Amino acid sequence: MCGILGVVGEPGALDTILDGLKRLEYRGYDSAGVALLDGGALLRVRTADGTRSVDALRDACAGLNRSATVGIGHTRWATHGGVSVANAHPHVDCGDGLAVIHNGIIENHDLLRADLVAKGHVFTSSTDTEVMVHLLEDELKCDGDLRAAMARMLPQLRGAFAVAAVSAAHPDRIVAARRVSPLVVGMTDTVAYLGSDVPALMGRVDSVLAVDEDCVVELTPGHAVVTDVHGVVVDAPVVSIDFDVEVADLGRYADFMTKEIDEQPAAVADTVAERLENLFDQPLDADVVAAIDKIVLVGCGSSYHAAMVGRVALESWAKIPAEIDIASEFRYRDAILSPTTLVIGVSQSGETIDTLEAMKHARRKGATVVAVSNIPGASMTREANASLLTKAGLEVSVASTKTVLAQVVVLQLLAISLGEARGVLDAAAATALRADLQTLPAALRIAVDDVAPMKDVANALATASSWFFLGRGSGLPVALEGALKLKEISYARAEGCPAGELKHGPIALIEPGVVVVAIVLPGPSAEKMYSNIAEVKARGATLVIVAPHDDHVVEGLGDFVVRTVPSGDAAAPLLAMVPLQHLAYAVARARGLEVDRPRNLAKTVTVE
Ligand code: AGP
Repeated sequence: MCGILGVVGEPGALDTILDGLKRLEYRGYDSAGVALLDGGALLRVRTADGTRSVDALRDACAGLNRSATVGIGHTRWATHGGVSVANAHPHVDCGDGLAVIHNGIIENHDLLRADLVAKGHVFTSSTDTEVMVHLLEDELKCDGDLRAAMARMLPQLRGAFAVAAVSAAHPDRIVAARRVSPLVVGMTDTVAYLGSDVPALMGRVDSVLAVDEDCVVELTPGHAVVTDVHGVVVDAPVVSIDFDVEVADLGRYADFMTKEIDEQPAAVADTVAERLENLFDQPLDADVVAAIDKIVLVGCGSSYHAAMVGRVALESWAKIPAEIDIASEFRYRDAILSPTTLVIGVSQSGETIDTLEAMKHARRKGATVVAVSNIPGASMTREANASLLTKAGLEVSVASTKTVLAQVVVLQLLAISLGEARGVLDAAAATALRADLQTLPAALRIAVDDVAPMKDVANALATASSWFFLGRGSGLPVALEGALKLKEISYARAEGCPAGELKHGPIALIEPGVVVVAIVLPGPSAEKMYSNIAEVKARGATLVIVAPHDDHVVEGLGDFVVRTVPSGDAAAPLLAMVPLQHLAYAVARARGLEVDRPRNLAKTVTVE
């Protein structure tokens, strides 16, 4: 979703901002803009060309001189007001001397706008953001101090925001603030940078300051001062960034999704190696771990599916009752939580607001909270009592692949450790399970390279408009994930369904032309899956069966049978996800679609 990049004190600030906005494209956006302070003047350029907006912005800025050393840039994902240049950020005040960019939603924007209009302010957009630039304009009349004006504005706002302002009257600084939405600051000796998340500053700095909620940060060349709303200086935690910039580059690949599917063996190997060394990045006290008597996993989309697979391990190996919730729904039930409840927020970005708010809710209710994230220093890692970071490297494609697998292995490693700590998993069993995870990358390599079978399926069925993905047990999250992948990048209607639920309603939709993808995993659920396969076959569906290499029952049942790589039970769901990634990718490509930035979606979802 929206992205922020600010620079203070760098010659050629415009190019730094344009490069940074290019890097932020992966979050998902539809328009872009920049405001520069140059020779006491404020210069603004904006474009609204959908996912080409940053390139269009670069073209629009081609003729500008590069002397400005201070500027702010923004990529907008529309919420209030359609996609247009008028609604693109930065927004400026009535005097064209003050510019504001914003991520998040100002919930009381209507009331604020009415007040400001009554005072004579003229609005030029339909956005909630524009109220802030006019509020700041009013507050500046008090004492002309941009930092103080920002501090006075914050209590007037309801909602979530990361906001940054520049003013022609303050040509050497950016002033910014946040509530809920993330905002980070990085510095070199001579330059200060502002970013909407840690990856925004990747390659420029090797550590960031995390700005607390309802604090104001003032950036000048090489400096940043964080203050509370009363102007008192506060400490901001420093978080190191250990991403390799190379990982964000496409290299020899056609697109990021192909690259990230291919990187899955390494993502799992690196995650297992790191987390075997040290399970937690920020550890939990041993007595807290010993007392855990219930686990609640929360996540959204693919991260929720990873949590579903992890839940099985937590119950089987650690013998702790484990619940799971869609993060955005968690706050709407009165979950029974206590300090002995472990709430695990699962999120590759570590910034998804639904998951972040669920974690905050759990902490307020006294639970112990752990973050599973791929981004060091992400908001969730700061909100949690402890973190378990995946080591998948930056994931750019909106469709999550390598981070999902890495999340599952982290949860499985947690389950093994909890099982040992509680004395319910003996040392030999724990060693065997860990050894399985260490051999997983080699099996994944085979699965990842075996593209042809699903390519054939995709070429034959690319025009099918209705798909069902069926699974049982650990096969269910695989089915749900397969359906999500297909719908988000190919735009085909795809539904993931517990195979046993089919006869309770969805089977009414099965008819010739509908494609059913049935996930058969080894174990007791397989026999029941055969029956469900027979039921949909009898009703004329086209059948794609994903099944173990040695499952002979499925031969002859499916129109297509795609084999999974042999493995132990714990690895089976992970290995079965890979052919479904291939399927989604191949259907999307066969439909002529660009896969990395599907319509309407964002990589980092920072609105509720
Ligand atoms: C899946 O391909 C999507 N990218 C989406 O469902 C994603 O998993 C979800 O938005 C949660 O994101 P997170 O892991 O960053 O919290």
